[in-house]
Amino acid sequence: MSERVPLQANKVHAGDCLELLKSVTSESVHLVLSDIPYGISVDDWDVLHSNTNSALLGSSPAQKKAGAVFKSRGKPINGWSEADRKIPKEYYEWCAKWAEDWFRVLKPGGSAVVFAGRRFSHRAICALEDAGFSLKDVLAWIRPNAAHRAQRLSVVYDKRGDQENAEAWSGWRVGNLRPLFEPVLWFTKPYPIGTTIADNALNHGVGGYNEEAFLKYEPSPDNILRSGFVKNESGLHPTQKPVRLMQELIELTTQPGQLVLDPFCGSGSTLVAARNTGRKFMGMEMSEEYARIAEQRLVGEMFSQEQFIEQRQKDTKEDESQLRIVLTTE
Ligand SMILES: C[S@@+](CC[C@H](N)C(=O)[O-])C[C@H]1O[C@@H](n2cnc3c(N)ncnc32)[C@H](O)[C@@H]1O
Repeated sequence: MSERVPLQANKVHAGDCLELLKSVTSESVHLVLSDIPYGISVDDWDVLHSNTNSALLGSSPAQKKAGAVFKSRGKPINGWSEADRKIPKEYYEWCAKWAEDWFRVLKPGGSAVVFAGRRFSHRAICALEDAGFSLKDVLAWIRPNAAHRAQRLSVVYDKRGDQENAEAWSGWRVGNLRPLFEPVLWFTKPYPIGTTIADNALNHGVGGYNEEAFLKYEPSPDNILRSGFVKNESGLHPTQKPVRLMQELIELTTQPGQLVLDPFCGSGSTLVAARNTGRKFMGMEMSEEYARIAEQRLVGEMFSQEQFIEQRQKDTKEDESQLRIVLTTE
């Protein structure tokens, strides 16, 4: 059997992380920081289950009319059929496929910090625990610009010409309250029996958290994260995370020169944050398009949607409106 060549640091590796992770040296990573697919069909790459239910294909008249918007937003929670009940379990099984490799590559005492959405993150927690991780805390990232889509019942009845019910159901909506927070799961790889966490920090360079560095980003050392996007930063990926947010998590858990891994790096926000804070990074991304965006962001200090479109037009002569469709967040 041929030996695998270890993956290089400070690079974006295009491909399936389930395969790429096998080529990462054991206990070489100081932090895994990743915004993993949520399994809620936020986009094509987020559809993990094999459910053939027609809803996602948009076959009802209303779905057909909504077209790409329906596909990218996925199905409304209340519209899910019985077949969709399998999704949480399938999400757990999918997380279990990479969780053991995350555990293997991380240094003892190191952190894995994971964005996994609100609805299925309990399944990611179980998969990572079953792989050996301890859940240390769940932080809350407050999203300043969370979109709110909850249909007013009175509007539905009004459109049907049912005035009586429109009045009776005034004030009622279907859907969720405004999703202002996103859970950030903070795991650690347990340090070996017979040592202490203080020994572990000396032996492996990880285990504590840097409160002083954290306070450069937040007003107090609590578990609420408030960092948002700077002007022109967003729009490169449907679930893009602010570089500032990733920087504070990196500075919280690692020291300069240490290695940060993001196996689902998307447009590369984690990698840019690692580079900005003097850490080494390793990114993996299945979509060639996003892997290219991540690489191009890493060339510049900060990379905006406008700069991306300008550069791609120079390289490929692609139509600006098409590039905007690729990058549109909704
Ligand atoms: C939630 S997004 C990450 C977005 C990122 N936080 C950003 O700021 O751009 C997850 C990414 O994982 C990628 N992905 C999904 N399955 C993958 C796999 N098996 N291997 C590598 N990347 C994968 C998707 O293409 C998507 O870009």
